[in-house]
Amino acid sequence: MAEILVTGAAGFIGSHFVDELIRDGHNVYGVDNFITSTPANISHLDDEPLFRFTERDITKGIEFPGALDYIANLASPASPVDYYEYPLETMLVGSVGAYHCLELAREKKAVFLQASTSEVYGDPEVTPQPESYWGRVNSFGPRACYDEAKRFAEALAYTYRAKEWAESRIARIFNTFGPRMRKNDGRAVPNFINQALAGEPITVYGDGSQTRSFCYINDLVEGLARLLFSPVTTPVNIGNPNEMTILDIAEQIREKINPESEIVFLPLPENDPKQRKPDISKAGKLLGWEPKWALEDGLDKTIEYFKSDRPTA
Ligand SMILES: NC(=O)c1ccc[n+]([C@@H]2O[C@H](COP(=O)([O-])OP(=O)(O)OC[C@H]3O[C@@H](n4cnc5c(N)ncnc54)[C@H](O)[C@@H]3O)[C@@H](O)[C@H]2O)c1
Repeated sequence: MAEILVTGAAGFIGSHFVDELIRDGHNVYGVDNFITSTPANISHLDDEPLFRFTERDITKGIEFPGALDYIANLASPASPVDYYEYPLETMLVGSVGAYHCLELAREKKAVFLQASTSEVYGDPEVTPQPESYWGRVNSFGPRACYDEAKRFAEALAYTYRAKEWAESRIARIFNTFGPRMRKNDGRAVPNFINQALAGEPITVYGDGSQTRSFCYINDLVEGLARLLFSPVTTPVNIGNPNEMTILDIAEQIREKINPESEIVFLPLPENDPKQRKPDISKAGKLLGWEPKWALEDGLDKTIEYFKSDRPTA
């Protein structure tokens, strides 16, 4: 049984990751300031003896009295709607927040995991994207607050490892979906599902020909856990290579919920990546991991969640 601190523990991925670690019998300490989440995501853990929670903004520093084996840093606004609203908070959590986590890892001799992102590849010229691709990122545009913060966090983790101050793991997470996303967080899957459920038009940006590869949350957190407990110190893509156009996924969701829904097209946001598809051969070889959930089944679970009375705003 390991002692594991998880930042961003109340978020969409964080709360599922905590569940996964607890299922495996670990002691988990969650930290979150709820900037893009609500306590509802972790309320099922209220009486869980393996879980303790502290409300805290990690950019203000983290103190921890006991021993720690691992620190998983998942804290960061993650949807474009959120990081447009909180650009400074996003840059600070990716830099100062990651720095505080790494200093704590150094003090506790703990392994540090950074939740990085496919956005470090920017609008890529190569597909699928392998970890060796350095990316095509605009440092002076609306997405820069997120993309560059994540790239900074990776550089910080590299530096602590190179200086032998702390061991690190880097998960480059690709688009993930599932229950506990926020209804209005602006990401494609919750957007389309909730528009179709409300009988509103489904809004697709651009002509919908841009591609994404959607990974179901259960697969994602299993990959994250495997990486955390592995000896792999270089970045690893975690995602589902099942690439499709945004219009495809909108149509699939429409078919499942309300075939009468209209699909309307809105202007494409600036710097929106045209393609996204992870090369996951490294995760397969080094972690023995690959996604198992079919898109269909993941969508059904997510639709079920949004139909229930649990979803947050
Ligand atoms: N969901 C995806 O498709 C995806 C893709 C790539 C990377 N990621 C990364 O995975 C992580 C989790 O993403 P998510 O989709 O669960 O987003 P989310 O917004 O649901 O969760 C992020 C959590 O971090 C918390 N947080 C933010 N700043 C904080 C701070 N300063 N101190 C403490 N807590 C703070 C938020 O309140 C929230 O609970 C993020 O780091 C994100 O960049 C997610």
